[in-house]
Amino acid sequence: MIYQNIDLDQIDLNCPVPEEEPERQYYYMALARSLVREKSRELGRPLYACTQTFGCQMNARDSEKLEGILEAIGYEKTESEKADFVIYNTCTVRENANLRVYGRLGQLGKYKKKNPHMIIALCGCMMQEPQVVEKLKKSYRFINLIFGTHNLYRFAEYVARALTEDSMIIDIWKDTDQIVENLPVDRKYSFKSGVNIMFGCNNFCSYCIVPYVRGRERSRKPEEILQEIRRLVSDGVVEVMLLGQNVNSYGKNLEQPVSFAKLLLEVEKTEGLKRIRFMTSHPKDLSEELIEVMAKSKKVCRHLHLPLQSGSSRILKRMNRRYTKEQYLELVERIRKAMPDISLTTDIIVGFPGETEEDFQETLDVVRRVRFDSAFTFQYSRRTGTPAAAMDDQIPPEVVKDRFDRLLEEVQKIAKEVCSRDVHTVQEVLVESINEQDASLVTGRMSNNTLVHFPGDSSLIGTLQKVYLTECKGFYYMGTPVATEEK
Ligand code: 5AD
Ligand code: SF4
Repeated sequence: MIYQNIDLDQIDLNCPVPEEEPERQYYYMALARSLVREKSRELGRPLYACTQTFGCQMNARDSEKLEGILEAIGYEKTESEKADFVIYNTCTVRENANLRVYGRLGQLGKYKKKNPHMIIALCGCMMQEPQVVEKLKKSYRFINLIFGTHNLYRFAEYVARALTEDSMIIDIWKDTDQIVENLPVDRKYSFKSGVNIMFGCNNFCSYCIVPYVRGRERSRKPEEILQEIRRLVSDGVVEVMLLGQNVNSYGKNLEQPVSFAKLLLEVEKTEGLKRIRFMTSHPKDLSEELIEVMAKSKKVCRHLHLPLQSGSSRILKRMNRRYTKEQYLELVERIRKAMPDISLTTDIIVGFPGETEEDFQETLDVVRRVRFDSAFTFQYSRRTGTPAAAMDDQIPPEVVKDRFDRLLEEVQKIAKEVCSRDVHTVQEVLVESINEQDASLVTGRMSNNTLVHFPGDSSLIGTLQKVYLTECKGFYYMGTPVATEEK
């Protein structure tokens, strides 16, 4: 098993443990690997590991890192939770994400009774909340390993310990300024990949727990990002998604500050790379420079996710979003003027403390004026430790539910109308998979992220195809291929 020119089977485990990263983790991968091999010999079968991911794109990317390390250690991947190693990469952005984890842990405990050598691990945002860890320590004694968002790079070290120690291993850090590069990654897709460009968040929106669980903003150096992208492209990747909680403030804390727009220009130069996406933008930081770069770019996709959260300037102020309804609308106008074909998507919260029917009507007004391609709608969830949780005018659940239903109906009605605008045109589609319902079709995405199904086979996966859109079916298209591009 060779990673970054390091052959894990050649590492001398009798040598002192290296202090430096990532060498230290490679040592522990080799150590855990020998332990897994031994256990596998004893059982006469391979050992299996299952990773379950909750939450956002950041977490999905983190899970690819966990899986890369598990693979290096010698575990076979499985979807089944009746495995030798199960890890939950958790999310805590809303209360129901937490409740799902507790529910499923109960089940895992039962599996472990039947298979006592099973290792159960938990990591991710939820683990950064002290009251969560207290509860796990008290009521879920069967868990072997708990770590947080800042020390994920130490996973190999923790696995090596969990394979030899009986007690519950808990290591949570409050924050970090370290970014460890060059650890193994097991990508979910061969042709597209997420790329972290920054970690953490400094915005402190009053409802949001993310700054408390992901720490302060840290940007990766442009050279590290570009090197990773070049490596991915040489490995068959044609589309990257640049990831950060607020990509528009990328680079501000670097020794040599760089704007996000400048980073995009550099990424665009990568030969062989065909598409660039990014997530998430904060409206307050979206620069004119970025709009210009996007408009000129051949590779940056025609899609912008621009969370609105509320259409009421009064509520936006209480949310600490630092823009008004008018500023948001004006920003949308500038973006549309520069890129008339852009697809805009958003996040909206209903039922924030103090939200009146008038405030809610303001949100509906923005939805009707902007006409989003799609919107993720959320009922406000009270997160302990955030300023909004302490506000005394919380909204009764039945009022929140009623507004949520009305918003969803409006959002879906508009999305359906907006989606059909490209019917009877030819669009470039990146083919992602064989269609799940009909194996004679393939499924891909347009630059603006809309799904398209058209006749084809698995040889097209990972290629860009020109497709004539024959029919719009609500939120996706049916099409026919018009020309084939070289792979
Ligand atoms: N309640 C409801 N939704 C929330 N989000 C973040 N925090 C909360 C909360 N406390 C939503 C926001 C954000 C998305 C990722 O989750 O809309 O953009
Ligand atoms: Fe959930 Fe936020 Fe953590 Fe993503 S960063 S997993 S949305 S809490």
